[in-house]
Parts: sequence; structure tokens; C-alpha cells
Amino acid sequence: MLDIDPFSDEVLADPYPFFEMLREVGPVAYIKPHGYYAVGRYEEVGIVATDHTRFTVEGGIGLSDIRKPGAWRAKSPISEIDPPEHTSVRAALQKVLSPVVIRQWRDEFEMHADQVAERVLDQRDVDGVRDVVEAFVLGVFPRLLGIDIPPERLVITGELNFNQLGPNNERLQRALARAEPILDWYAAQLQRDKMSPGGFGARIYQAEDEGDFEKGTAAAHVRSFFRAGVDTTMAGIGFAFHQLARNPDQFNLVAADPSIVRYAFEEAIRHESPAQLIFRTTVGAVELSGYSLEADTKVGYYAGAANRDPRKWNDPDKFDVKRAVMGQHRAFGVGAHMCIGQMIARMEAEAIIGAIVRRTKRLEITGDITYRLVNTLRTLDTLPLRITPA
Ligand code: HEM
Repeated sequence: MLDIDPFSDEVLADPYPFFEMLREVGPVAYIKPHGYYAVGRYEEVGIVATDHTRFTVEGGIGLSDIRKPGAWRAKSPISEIDPPEHTSVRAALQKVLSPVVIRQWRDEFEMHADQVAERVLDQRDVDGVRDVVEAFVLGVFPRLLGIDIPPERLVITGELNFNQLGPNNERLQRALARAEPILDWYAAQLQRDKMSPGGFGARIYQAEDEGDFEKGTAAAHVRSFFRAGVDTTMAGIGFAFHQLARNPDQFNLVAADPSIVRYAFEEAIRHESPAQLIFRTTVGAVELSGYSLEADTKVGYYAGAANRDPRKWNDPDKFDVKRAVMGQHRAFGVGAHMCIGQMIARMEAEAIIGAIVRRTKRLEITGDITYRLVNTLRTLDTLPLRITPA
């Protein structure tokens, strides 16, 4: 039992002492103020994320149970269904994300990354979050999804989404108040008539017409891609730049061998994981690592804690681009629901990190680094950087 609020400013600003407490108190803890079980060890995170017979997603991947009255989130037609139904929906989405689509996206990412890199190299002193990460991701990803949503509005809806996965606290109420004026407009942007021809969104509607998805779910699929794919990727790329700037030896390794860029990103999201907390719900009373968990109760898996579990990783707090993390870290989850957009996130990261590292001799941090406090997302707010051209 832990009598601590994991959604307080103090914990969100620096979650690592809480993660350590969570891992060391036992394989599973009960978070008293919010009434949910939490796991932070690598092994139990793997079990809770994958075993849908004991831990279902049907109650939603946030803290509120979407099957019960008073839930504060709408259901996702991909994240919140268990196998076997999930298997065919996932296969249909995978078809929309065909290798041809992915190849086109790679070219677009690289072109846009070069433009952003040229601009920031001219400026030299930049905010890595606004001028690099947001300029890149928000400038290209929504366009590829085939939807025209201004970047500042995406920041507001993204923050709302990752707050909604946590408790209905003041932080969520503030995010709701900020988003309220644009929510109807946002819902309208996800409708068929707003999709640009030939874009990803249009293809989702076409797949629905062809019977690949349940009728009436296309808008929710498009929304799931926005919900899952924007803020997480921005956070991960921000962490990679932060750590490369903080660790010149690691920057030099990447600069000497650009094929390491992808490992730098992967290690960055192991070291600081964007999607910190994702929920399942117990299916009846279940057993986990020798403990009995009550029926119909939320269980949160902390990917950020598992990714620093010393039972799994040597020197877990160290950022080390040579660490073998591919397929091992839990930043993309694991099992049937493992991130479907992971190769897209990697392509984006490789494009923008590569474009900047290739042109840069030195990256330096020139001021205070701050985090945005969001209930279930870890992400930077400011990253003051000086970029010295090669
Ligand atoms: C660094 C970037 C990203 C991170 C850290 C991340 C993280 C995650 C995690 C942890 C899950 C598993 C959730 C669970 O266990 O229930 C997930 C699922 C998902 N992600 Fe990502 N994601 C990223 C980028 C993306 C991108 C770019 C897209 C879209 C292009 C995307 C779309 C999705 C979707 C649709 C799911 C649900 C898959 C399913 O339930 O079968 N993600 N992501």
C-alpha cells in the first residue's frame, strides 16, 4: 500500500524517487489515494501489459473505467479491445500503413527535417522544444495523416488526452477548460469531409467502407492516431536532444557514426519514457506474483519505472547510446497492443536527429530545462540549446 499521490506536481516533476519506491515496495502496490494497483518492475510490467485474460483493456487504458457511468474518456476502437477482436482491427490498420505509405512518409520526414535543421542552424540559440521538436513533428505528421489542424491546437488536445488517462484532478480540469472552446471544432476535423484526398485519414474511411472496420469507427481511429502519435513522438525526440546535449561523449559517438542515431532515440525513450503510465483492469479476482488483486480494479503499468529497473538494466540512470535496448525497453509497450506507430516514430526521430547532428559540431544546454506536468505523459517544456555548426 502506498499512500502517495503519483499525480502531484512533485512526483510528476521528478518521478524517479516514486518509481524506485514502487519497484522496491514489492512486485505490485496499491495506490491508496486513487484506488488502483501499480506495477513498476520490468517483469510485472510485461505481465500486466500482455496478459489480457487477467488484465483486460476493455475497461480502458486510462484510470477511469470507460464501461461505467461517469467515465471521462471516449473508447478507442483499437487500444481498448482485447484479442481476438483486436487482432482483425489491428491487421486492417496495418494494411493502411502499408510499406508504400511508409516509404512516402520517410521522404517527407527527411525533406521537412532538412528545412527545420537549416533554420535552427542559422539561429544557433534555440528552444529545442518549440524550434526543433514542435516545428518538425507538428509541421509534418498532421499533414501526412491528411488533416489540417494548427499546431497550437494540437498541443492543447494532446495535453488534454494524456491528462484524461489519469485521475479527474485539477490538472485535468485546467486542461479541459483550455480545450473546451475547440473540442467541437476538433471533432469536426476528424470527419470524412475534412480528410485530404489520398491521405492516411481518407484511407481509414475507405477501409471502413470496405468493411475492414466496424461502421462508424473511422473518426475514432483517426483520433487514436492523433492521440497516440503526436505528443509521445515529440517527447521522445526532445529527450534524445536533451541527452545528446548533456552528454558530449554520446553526441560524439553519434556524430562519428550516423547509423547510431536510431539507437540514440531508442535509448532516449528507455531512459525517459514518454508514455509513463497505461492501465488495464483485473478480470475477476486475479493473482500476480504471489499477491491477490481484487476483481474489476484498475492496474497501472509504469513503463518509465520498468525502463529504469536495475533488475533488468545495468546502471539504468545512465544514457548510453551503445546499450542494447531494441525490442527490450517498454516505452512502446509490449504484446498485442505494442505501439503500431513505432516505426513511424523511429523514422521521424532518425530524420530530425540525423539532419541536425550531420550539420553540427557541438550541442550545448544554455539555460534551465523544464518539463510540462501532465498526468500520464513525461515531456519537456523548454530545452534551451546552442547549436554550433560543423
Ligand atoms: C515515441 C513515440 C511513441 C511512444 C512512446 C508510443 C507509445 C505507445 C505505447 C506504450 C503503446 C501501448 C499501449 C498499451 O499497452 O495499451 C502504444 C500504442 C499505440 N500507438 Fe504508440 N507510441 C509512439 C508513437 C506512435 C505513433 C507515431 C503512432 C501513429 C502513427 C502511434 C500509434 C499508436 C496506436 C494506434 C496504438 C494502439 C495500438 C493497439 O492498441 O493495438 N504511436 N504506443
